[in-house]
Amino acid sequence: MQLTLAIIKPDAVQAGHTGKILAHLEAAGFQIRAVRLVRLSTAQAQAFYAVHRDRPFFKPLVAFMTSGPALALALARDNAVAHLRDVIGATDPADAKPGTVRKLYAQNKERNAIHASDSAENAAREVAFFFPERELVELG
Ligand code: CMP
Repeated sequence: MQLTLAIIKPDAVQAGHTGKILAHLEAAGFQIRAVRLVRLSTAQAQAFYAVHRDRPFFKPLVAFMTSGPALALALARDNAVAHLRDVIGATDPADAKPGTVRKLYAQNKERNAIHASDSAENAAREVAFFFPERELVELG
């Protein structure tokens, strides 16, 4: 089992898609190990997306991610990082395959419904960003 981090972004929470996205992730074989509804501060969003700080989309990305509540999730399954990337689809929903979370629920490249860690190294960092070890529930 591997852990990865997902964030159901403010656009999807605001649109009432949280439950459908959780059902989609569970149907794809992910177990929810920890969950938290968060309202990110500007400093938190800047820290979380620090790798993108020199990109032209950084400022609007931080503004969007702080615009409303988001749902942070620690998800477990075998090969979780790669599998979750497949299940959510391409960053831009216009490029996402049919049946992926972003094809179903994203509006555009920025308001794209969900974030997922892009490597095992980032997954460890991103899970720890939201959840202390003791909050990661062991499932039988
Ligand atoms: P996410 O998986 O959360 O990681 C970084 C985010 O930046 C990405 O999803 C997009 O929502 C956002 N973003 C906005 N514009 C771009 C862009 N041109 N290229 C990549 N990511 C972008």
